[in-house]
Amino acid sequence: MTDLAPPPVAYSPYDYAIHDDPFPTYARLRAEAPLYRNDELGFWALSRYADVHDAFRDTVRFSSAYGVTLDELAWGPDAHKVMSFLALDPPRHTRMRALVSRGFTPRRVLDLAPRITALTHEYLDPALERGEFDLIADVAGKLPMDVISELIGVPPADRAEVRRLADLLVHREQGVFDVPPTGIEAAIALHAYYADMVAQRLAAPTDDLTSALVQAEIDGERLTTDEVIAFLFLLVVAGNETTTKLLGNALYWAWRNPGTAERVWADPSLVKGWIEETLRYDNSSQMVARRAAVRIDTPHGAIPEGDRVLLLIGAANRDGDVFPEPDRYLLDRDATMAIDADKLSFGVGRHYCMGASLARLEAAIALEALVAGCRGYDLDPTGIRRVHSVNVRGFAALPVTVRR
Ligand code: HEM
Repeated sequence: MTDLAPPPVAYSPYDYAIHDDPFPTYARLRAEAPLYRNDELGFWALSRYADVHDAFRDTVRFSSAYGVTLDELAWGPDAHKVMSFLALDPPRHTRMRALVSRGFTPRRVLDLAPRITALTHEYLDPALERGEFDLIADVAGKLPMDVISELIGVPPADRAEVRRLADLLVHREQGVFDVPPTGIEAAIALHAYYADMVAQRLAAPTDDLTSALVQAEIDGERLTTDEVIAFLFLLVVAGNETTTKLLGNALYWAWRNPGTAERVWADPSLVKGWIEETLRYDNSSQMVARRAAVRIDTPHGAIPEGDRVLLLIGAANRDGDVFPEPDRYLLDRDATMAIDADKLSFGVGRHYCMGASLARLEAAIALEALVAGCRGYDLDPTGIRRVHSVNVRGFAALPVTVRR
């Protein structure tokens, strides 16, 4: 027996072992390296709840102006050209978000409910009929992008093509760490499509979100065409895969924790708790990046000016200082804790996810339809495949068999 100390904790969001199960590493980061440094990839990482929360709130020192991802091609002062105000700091962020909020209202999201229900049935009903299907390919991978298309006014005939381009935009083959040429080509094609749509709405507005955006005005100021297009891109990048993965993660963890799905089927009012706990326990967005606008002195050491800092949402959401029994997947957790008061799944403060209520609405409609449409489900462990992405966490394939 030797009693050598274990090697220092190592964390890379590109590591497939981390994709399989990041949570033991997160626990070590919180305990042993609350300000972690990865020299090779050039980032710092914060993992404790209090630190991640405070960094989200501090938009002056923790700047979003270089974007929020690790992709080298997307990191830099031009990030806002494709990620819109997600990659801007106040006051530019404040202005654009306020203008966009004029069109992207809670009412507009609520009004989408009947269309989300119709789209859900379009994909889910034939899948349930077959009895066996891939949740991602057949349902969860289609619904969120079609809902975004519905919202912004892409006509039904164009939606499959727009979805194909959007998928290529975010898709990464295994081992590819940056935006591949197919992704760039898809971005160019999607940009041309959206530019055309914006021009049409400028000439003849309809009642869709794109029309509302081109007309939105504060103190005589409007969004430029480029700003509207960048926002449409942001919706695709922020709202498509994240919601797909939320649905997959919900089915996966309810299956991995025996008795959980049975409880939901016995009491469908638990669907909301199912969604909330999935967001906390295994969020599809595990981290966002920030740039230190100045040297930042944290309680755990200094971050030099200009350096990149990852805010590990997934680690903060498992912090036992905030969440009792953090590694248990508990459907009723929010019955004892105010919904969303605590988890960081949608961010905090100025950049708080604009689509949080839409994501929740979609997930509720889809999962309630699943519960109503069958007596239960099983997953085929041999067919389950994870995506290997730094930006989203979840499944590329999730084969489901339903009990009718
Ligand atoms: C489960 C699904 C989702 C998750 C986990 C998620 C997560 C997040 C997070 C963590 C942020 C904050 C980023 C930061 O602080 O840098 C964010 C921002 C944002 N999200 Fe979501 N999101 C989801 C779904 C959606 C949907 C469906 C939409 C719209 C269709 C959307 C639109 C946005 C936008 C526009 C922002 C930028 C807000 C800003 O910078 O002011 N998201 N999201």
